[in-house]
Amino acid sequence: MDKPTNKLRKILVTQALPYANAPLHLGHILEAVQTDIWTRFQNLNGNECLFFCADDTHGTPVMLKAKEMNITPEELINDVYKDHKETYDLYGINFTNFYSTHSDENKKFSEEIYIEAKKNNLITKEIVKQLFDEKEQMFLSDRFVKGSCPKCDAPDQHGDNCSVCGASYDVLEIKDPISILSNSKPIKKDSEHIFFDLPKKIDTLREFLNKSNLQTPIKNKLKEWLSDDLKKWDISRDEPYFGFKIPDEINKYFYVWVDAPIGYIASMDNWFKNNNIDTEEVWSPNSNYEIFHFIGKDIAYFHGLFWPALLSSANFKLPNGIFVHGFLTVNGEKMSKSKGTGILAKNFASICDPETLRYYFASKLNDKVEDIDLNFEDYVQKINSDLVGKYLNIASRTSSFLKKNENKLSKNIDKDLIKTLTDEKVNVIDLYENRKYSQLVRLIMELADNVNKYINNETPWKKDLDESVDICSTALNAFKIISIYLNPIIPSLSNKAYEFLNLKTCSFDDIENILNGHINNYKPLLNRLEPLIIPEEEDMDNQNIIDINQFSSIDLRVAKIIKAEDVDGADKLIQLTLDVGEYGTRTVFAGIKSSYKPEDLDNRMVVLVNNLAPRQMKFGLSEGMVLASSNDDGIYLVSPDDGAEPGMKVR
Ligand code: 2FM
Ligand code: ZN
Repeated sequence: MDKPTNKLRKILVTQALPYANAPLHLGHILEAVQTDIWTRFQNLNGNECLFFCADDTHGTPVMLKAKEMNITPEELINDVYKDHKETYDLYGINFTNFYSTHSDENKKFSEEIYIEAKKNNLITKEIVKQLFDEKEQMFLSDRFVKGSCPKCDAPDQHGDNCSVCGASYDVLEIKDPISILSNSKPIKKDSEHIFFDLPKKIDTLREFLNKSNLQTPIKNKLKEWLSDDLKKWDISRDEPYFGFKIPDEINKYFYVWVDAPIGYIASMDNWFKNNNIDTEEVWSPNSNYEIFHFIGKDIAYFHGLFWPALLSSANFKLPNGIFVHGFLTVNGEKMSKSKGTGILAKNFASICDPETLRYYFASKLNDKVEDIDLNFEDYVQKINSDLVGKYLNIASRTSSFLKKNENKLSKNIDKDLIKTLTDEKVNVIDLYENRKYSQLVRLIMELADNVNKYINNETPWKKDLDESVDICSTALNAFKIISIYLNPIIPSLSNKAYEFLNLKTCSFDDIENILNGHINNYKPLLNRLEPLIIPEEEDMDNQNIIDINQFSSIDLRVAKIIKAEDVDGADKLIQLTLDVGEYGTRTVFAGIKSSYKPEDLDNRMVVLVNNLAPRQMKFGLSEGMVLASSNDDGIYLVSPDDGAEPGMKVR
């Protein structure tokens, strides 16, 4: 198919910048996955789409956390930066640039936008009363004050916005304030502050609301806020503060929400410099780039009002769209550390293949502002049924027939079946473009279902070699198309599928091409998931480090397998009878059958956890555990070198 010459869109995408005072949790990953899928789709579909992010480094929380840890804020944000980057990498988040708001570029753009706003008479000063913590000797930033919402009276709300009614307000308006730093009642104290004259921008904001791509509930909410009594925005903070100083002022700092979104521009500028792109041009009103922000519903106010107002005051381009998603709940509950549902992204990745979470999130995400629930049972069921049972099953059940044909594919394929898949390309593109991922996943799984039905009906196992190779080549062509359709969602699995098919770069342009030549041997690309058990965060935090006493308490012994036999009714287990020298014989049920045959295990030396509490299983009592490692390809028993005797201690 010819590519229309005007097809190449230039698109810049951002996700909200994570705060640099804590590790990432699964809520961050939800947004990153939503954005990454969209970015990957755009590129796969022939557009140029770049994805920018940065750590949001400024503000009081970072300053206080560093103080508490006895390090400088710079040290803290450097450590967090590394951790954030590693975590996003685990989930395959493919940033064009992941930068920091504590950067020269950000300082330059923050100052420039402020100075332009000042030239345009949008900056004013006023003496304001502020909440001051006498114990801590500091003015309190909004998030360190709690009290009741001035609009809806909801108790225990943060100083700047209400999680119940969504209102944003001045911290002075909050009822019954308490400083959460010292638990004391703050006093009101005068301080000169600098303001951005938001009401002067009301016409620009109205126009922005009408023109840009916003979801209806967000548009309505922003309109409501606009028609409310719009106030000037306080953009300065007093010392002590970690941030950028405001030009021509003494000891005044930009409020973090000024330089945070400007961090989008800074991250781009940092990358553009080395890639021959002119930042000023990109952000000029007649730019030929489209700019989209992915954010959570809690920060729609900042992105829908303050941000366009700031940009327009310096004659910068306004975003083409803001895509807002809901919050993540876990097993139906708001994420909370105390309930064990505030799961850190790194910890989750050590328990479960991150690629499967990408798939699960995609299967739940849509273009709405609704909350998304991560339900562990549903998760395991969906991965096993969709990815293992439907998608990968196509390759695993057909590749064995091709192996009999030296892995050579036939070109005599069933074109009608393939057409049912290629015909969906326009729908797939449309669903990706409009971020209707859950609908998209359902559509792709229907296609995978149909391919499996095709194999069932055609019964390659009953056919002669030529015919079975034709059927299986058809199925593998379908598998290729499905792999392309799924690529933005599960890039790593889809690329492995591509390698198996002996293909190079995956692209939507490749959908109509028919496979030829040969494939590679099929190795299982994903194991079925076992039920998910997420340890408490505290346990996870401690899991990597044990002291020598804890280690010594595990009694590891050399053991010899004297009998190995299948277990009736258990397709994963082998029953081992072990000689443990002075400790006698032991029976252990080991889940190693996928990689070992009982007859190959006789007389093999292994390592036994000798003092593990016996476990009553359906098939008998298991009196210990043998050590083994595993990866996607199989299970590998751990054995001592020659010369070791049953019963010897392993240390
Ligand atoms: O809400 C947050 O987590 C902020 N750190 C998001 C900032 S997004 C952008 F404006 F920088
Ligand atoms: Zn409220």
